[in-house]
Amino acid sequence: MNENKASHPTTIIIFGATGDLAKRKLFPAFYNLYIDGRMPKGFNILALGRADNTNEYFKNYIKENLENFSRKKITSEDWAGFQAHITYFQNQLDEESSYKNLHQKLEEFDKIYGTRGNRLFYLSIGPNFVSTISNHIKNTSLASDAKKDRIIIEKPFGHDKQSAMELNSLLAETFEEEQIYRIDHYLGKETVQNILAFRFGNSIFEPLWDHKHIESVQITVAEEVGVETRGAFYEQTGALKDMIQNHLLQILCMVAMEPPASLESGEIRDRKVDVLKSIRRISSDQVDHYAVRGQYGKGIVNGVEAKGYRQEDGIAEDSNTETFAAVKFYLDNERWQDVPFYVRTGKKMKEKHSYITIQFKPLPHSTFSESSQHLSANRLIINIQPLMDIRLQFMAKKPGLSLVLKPVEMIFDNFACQEDTPEAYETLLLDALLGDLTLFMRSDQVEEAWDVVKTIQEAWETTKDSSFPNYEAGSWGPKESIALVERQGHNWV
Ligand code: BG6
Repeated sequence: MNENKASHPTTIIIFGATGDLAKRKLFPAFYNLYIDGRMPKGFNILALGRADNTNEYFKNYIKENLENFSRKKITSEDWAGFQAHITYFQNQLDEESSYKNLHQKLEEFDKIYGTRGNRLFYLSIGPNFVSTISNHIKNTSLASDAKKDRIIIEKPFGHDKQSAMELNSLLAETFEEEQIYRIDHYLGKETVQNILAFRFGNSIFEPLWDHKHIESVQITVAEEVGVETRGAFYEQTGALKDMIQNHLLQILCMVAMEPPASLESGEIRDRKVDVLKSIRRISSDQVDHYAVRGQYGKGIVNGVEAKGYRQEDGIAEDSNTETFAAVKFYLDNERWQDVPFYVRTGKKMKEKHSYITIQFKPLPHSTFSESSQHLSANRLIINIQPLMDIRLQFMAKKPGLSLVLKPVEMIFDNFACQEDTPEAYETLLLDALLGDLTLFMRSDQVEEAWDVVKTIQEAWETTKDSSFPNYEAGSWGPKESIALVERQGHNWV
């Protein structure tokens, strides 16, 4: 996490401040940054919503939600300090007059700061409104200072490559690329950031990090939750667009990227784009060979009966949306030639568990012939959540009089170092306040990631999967995803 503290007075303008993300993630993140003394000395949060709420009503609503979602406990002293920085502001997203009023309000804050403050616009709204808001910001000159004004955009960033390119061009009419912070919250997760530290802060792993020593890489993001209240959104999205195009490909980039020359944001983002460019593009007749889709039927998750996806609110009875996706990627570059990168994600799976497995190659020759049946190849597991650790699995002698080997594990546990780690949004919001773009997606990254999934996306959108639902809620997904890795003699770990 960034050690700095933003110094210039800043007004944070949240579009969609009465929405779910704001209450669960944004306000708790700002509150925790405030308690940690990381917010700028002068700051104001302008919470924009359609409804005619009073300030008092809105602040009570935020306070109640902080009780549920804040990492740190709410004390009356901290709350008293924090709430003084919040102002509710009624705004109609599509009315120019609302933006003119907003302009006035921002100038009032600037007067109090005694200087033109920085402006951080947070678009916590549906993707359909991005162009409306961006156009109004442009027409009313709300973001007139390229050095001081920034915009944060939530995913989904477009729904395919073409729409992402259009969105990028539209934003470019109002903002320079350095002002645009496209969020992928997985990049803010402590354990995901640790991949860089682990790979490039040590001398012993990097020499082994290639096709000569690594047999395969697996990335799993399994969720226990279903679509909750987001049926309408999810029905149009599915696992490929919701998770693989962004979160899983970003993790893959962290694992596969070449060492950056420095930690400069442009350098790191260049190395990630290199990875995306090197991912082998497949043809439409190869989709079934490289990718598996699934949709959950009813089942039992964690001992509780769960409905099937098609029975959830807002979902069509004959829905063709995938709630599970597994893909095998190859990277056509010198380091990773012929190493399969298996990625999978799904909803209503057996357990919530996100992890990366680096499977090393087996020994070329076994010295321990008699006990060779016990030799397992080395494996490195990076647990992202809810476990947050790194495990190195290797062989060791079983204590005793005979020379018998057994697999053992060496564990680095994040919690043992620090029990209370910052939430991804705390890290990302602080970086945006500081103007550090490293953990945000650049326009070419987003477009390239859409290009990577394009063929699979087109095939899945245009052909109906008659096997749906093809996995039980509470399982590890459809059996075809097992076949995807077994074909190459591998197993999901
Ligand atoms: C979001 C997806 O980006 O990430 C959700 O839209 C998903 O469908 C969520 O549940 C997972 O995030 P986390 O941090 O809970 O793993």
